[in-house]
Amino acid sequence: MNQDQMKQAVAQAALDYVAPRIEDDTVLGIGTGSTANFFIDGLAEYRGRINVTVASSEASAERLRQHGIPVVDLNSVDRVDYYVDGADESNAALQLIKGGGAALTREKIVAATAKEFICIADESKLVHTLGNFPLPVEVIPMARSYVARELVKLGADPVYREDVVTDNGNIILDLHNFAIPQPLATEKAINAIVGVVTNGLFADRPADLLLLATPSGVKSLKAE
Ligand code: 5RP
Repeated sequence: MNQDQMKQAVAQAALDYVAPRIEDDTVLGIGTGSTANFFIDGLAEYRGRINVTVASSEASAERLRQHGIPVVDLNSVDRVDYYVDGADESNAALQLIKGGGAALTREKIVAATAKEFICIADESKLVHTLGNFPLPVEVIPMARSYVARELVKLGADPVYREDVVTDNGNIILDLHNFAIPQPLATEKAINAIVGVVTNGLFADRPADLLLLATPSGVKSLKAE
């Protein structure tokens, strides 16, 4: 099984999990990235039964609309029932690094409103200690140099992601050479820097369920 086949398999497992739970007023939160795209494409089969979705990026909203699936503004709903999204890394506590696709802030907002966050990934994303994948940080453009200097003080090597502007009009700094043994403390410390919008650590709000594709099938993991 190649990586795309694993992404497709885990997206299908998420559909199998969510589809029987969909009711008329169910609000589905939809993530961003190549694994989430497989989920969106599979969702098309259920379009008549899905009345409300919210998307974590303009790209995902556009893809949903192309399939004829209704997308609303998050402000027009009072909750998200199920949020399905990929990740760049997960540890055994289902704390995540996200933001490889620069959608971390909207992803974090949708995750915060979600009753159940279902993360979909292939087994290469499961790690012992977060941080091999460079942690993305969304930053207000005028604060870029100041925030970078503050991040160096925390021990990271911030690298400006060239030619990327987020859906919110901001820039991304990716933190290299930055192992994260204490995700909750690190998430809070980075978010406390003035000029940071948010960082891609999902430790305060981890996933509730991790569906993990392996060559021998999809595993279901709950937080240890
Ligand atoms: C986008 C994300 C994605 O969920 C993450 O980058 C994983 O992407 P993919 O499914 O393409 O591997 O956080 O901001």
